[in-house]
Amino acid sequence: MDLLLGQVLSYTGDPFALGEAAARHLTRGAVLVDAGRITQVGEAADLRARHPQARIHDYGSALISAGFVDAHAHYPQTAIIASWGKRLIDWLNLYTFPEEMRFSDPAYADEIAGRYLDLVVANGTTTVCSYTTIHPASVDAIFSAARARGMRVFAGKTCMDRNAPEGLRDTAGSAYDDSKRLLEKWHGQDRLSYVITPRFSPTSTPEQLAALGALWREYPDCLMQTHLSEQTDEIAWVKDLFPQSRDYLDTYEAQGLLREGAVYGHAIWLTDREKARLAEAGAAVVHCPTSNTFIGSGLFDMGLARQVRVGLASDTGGGSSFSMLRTMAAAYEVAQLRGQALHPAQLWWLATQGSARALRAEDRIGNIAPGMEADLAVIDLASTPAIAQAAARAETLWQQLFPTIMMGDDRAVKAVWIGGKRAGQARMPGLLPEKGEVCANESNSMRKPVK
Ligand code: GUN
Ligand code: ZN
Repeated sequence: MDLLLGQVLSYTGDPFALGEAAARHLTRGAVLVDAGRITQVGEAADLRARHPQARIHDYGSALISAGFVDAHAHYPQTAIIASWGKRLIDWLNLYTFPEEMRFSDPAYADEIAGRYLDLVVANGTTTVCSYTTIHPASVDAIFSAARARGMRVFAGKTCMDRNAPEGLRDTAGSAYDDSKRLLEKWHGQDRLSYVITPRFSPTSTPEQLAALGALWREYPDCLMQTHLSEQTDEIAWVKDLFPQSRDYLDTYEAQGLLREGAVYGHAIWLTDREKARLAEAGAAVVHCPTSNTFIGSGLFDMGLARQVRVGLASDTGGGSSFSMLRTMAAAYEVAQLRGQALHPAQLWWLATQGSARALRAEDRIGNIAPGMEADLAVIDLASTPAIAQAAARAETLWQQLFPTIMMGDDRAVKAVWIGGKRAGQARMPGLLPEKGEVCANESNSMRKPVK
């Protein structure tokens, strides 16, 4: 049994509906973790007195939060992050597709999958929902790496049967067969979930979209992820490729790829009809602000959060950072350009509960409450001199937190807990050094049996 002490931030509601009142903050709080789950949350003094046998991890004034949930990423693009220039389609052709070709080598897929998960964990992210490549071994690689780290991870084989180079194309039939085989192999194993993944309408024929729609009907509890209305030239291309469709969303809807459990990345340039259909169908959209500025895609309308489930994501490597802190900062800046000032309570919620809701996993991850899985990030709110001097003036948690949201990076991540275990201790020695954690009764552990 472990008892984590520090400031504790959790949510009892949606801050887009309730504002700050949706958050619960304990200045000297405690989180009790047992057998991989959070069992109690309360005042530090109270929980210490009630659980004298628990191993104490005193994080001082650092913030204990749910681990971040990155709802849209491409792990195979890890090595090409921050590649200069170009619009979406050129960027895919110039950087992304050549890199994704390299995943025909399973050893390379394993190397990048491990590197990617270590990078996100170092940034406080405990769950990702990732695309892979067309190669089945790229799916095995990310799920194996996630399993070795005990992580809750969502992923699926990226399917493309046109408008991609030779060597990166499957067919409608092989996409269905490979996806089904991988789904049966991985879905529901440990903390892993398979996601049916047509890349986007330009790289799938209607036949392939229909085959994946049929697969989704066979396995209705899976998620389905794809891209939607990211750039205006992409939308014009979709219009040429699908002359019968009413709009971009209709290219998916017509093939059975719109309902609860659908997760659409970007969703910037939506028509009123598309917004209404997304809301009616109970689908989710994912805001990828560092990518949308980096590739020059456009400014997401956060007003959508009142109608549909909205998650937040890095979109690595179209996005320029692995950090959900940097992603929150970009979401704030993008909203400012649309005349919306997002509250820190809303930004933090998007990176935790909001993304968990988009992935329909909000009953397990993305919050601190009894019964939730113990995926936690401990955040130092004074991790650099620049942040510390700004936070020192704060009178509220939100004022204290906002400099870290805007200027923080992996240096702010003091500790990460995954499934009730300290990440970095066994698998990644050196990657996440103890940064000031005082483990109060660690020296007693030889004498007192600790559970
Ligand atoms: N649309 C289709 N594929 C991709 C991708 O890999 N990244 C981004 N940002 N958009 C896409
Ligand atoms: Zn993407």
